[in-house]
Amino acid sequence: MTKRKIIIDTDPGQDDAVAILLALASPELELLGVTCVAGNVPLELTAKNARIVCELAGRPETRVFAGCDRPMARKLVTAEHVHGKTGLDGITLPDPIMPLETQHAVDFLIETLRREPAGSVTLCPIAPLTNIATAIQRAPDIVPRIAEIVLMGGGCFEGGNITPAAEFNIYVDPEAAKIVFDAGVKLTVMPLDVTHKALTNRARVEAFRNAGRVGPAVASWTDFFERFDKEKYGSEGAPLHDPCTVAYLLRPELFSGRFINVEIETGSDLTLGMTVADWWRVSRRAPNANFIGDVDAEGYFELLTERLARL
Ligand code: RIB
Ligand code: CA
Repeated sequence: MTKRKIIIDTDPGQDDAVAILLALASPELELLGVTCVAGNVPLELTAKNARIVCELAGRPETRVFAGCDRPMARKLVTAEHVHGKTGLDGITLPDPIMPLETQHAVDFLIETLRREPAGSVTLCPIAPLTNIATAIQRAPDIVPRIAEIVLMGGGCFEGGNITPAAEFNIYVDPEAAKIVFDAGVKLTVMPLDVTHKALTNRARVEAFRNAGRVGPAVASWTDFFERFDKEKYGSEGAPLHDPCTVAYLLRPELFSGRFINVEIETGSDLTLGMTVADWWRVSRRAPNANFIGDVDAEGYFELLTERLARL
């Protein structure tokens, strides 16, 4: 089986952690590296948390890189209110022993995309898009070499989760998001419209808890992570956002969406970071994104649980 080469760009974050575990548990994928960015918590913590997760998976050889510590043109906005002070609240795991790579994440992205065969590397950003956009801006030659970008971010009918109009990953660095959405790369977007259908519930969390060695940690993260969304949305569980990207690479048939135009608002204070998704194709703007609107939630959680149990 030819493994699909991927790079996960991340701001762990409990849901990021599950996405990284899913990738490491899946033999279909070759995780070339984990690039960290400031987002849910500051960069120092996201770079630490990514290594905690790789060591939890028993994969300390995974290459983890620190990237941009702030958005391209704005102050950093973080989300400790959702993820806790550490960014991985819910369970205390040992500090990482594995080293952080000395190369900057943006240089790793550029170097890897230039070295690997064109069209062989997929990027999975599950955080603000600062690293990805900086790499594209610094080295436009990498754009045609990217196989696909499968990102978690944005929203259409679901609106926003950090403002009424914007989802967190896009809102934190809208200028970066505009660069990525305008780059002309094959783009699949996992917005709140689909992740809000991938909700945890008691049975699903208990299935996580019993999913092998990493299960208890995943259940503890989910227990912590879901309290915010349950209170905010009055739902039974919380959306497990980021693993949707990796699950899409493994079983795309679990997801459905439309190839539409998506633009990023970078001017208005009121709607900054909004993904203006032309779901009904009422504008004449050219489609640029496979915008996912639905998921087979049972199948998604079955895949997650089965793979986590392999670690
Ligand atoms: O809005 C959800 C996104 O913001 C997820 O990637 C979560 O980890 C946070 O980064
Ligand atoms: Ca994230």
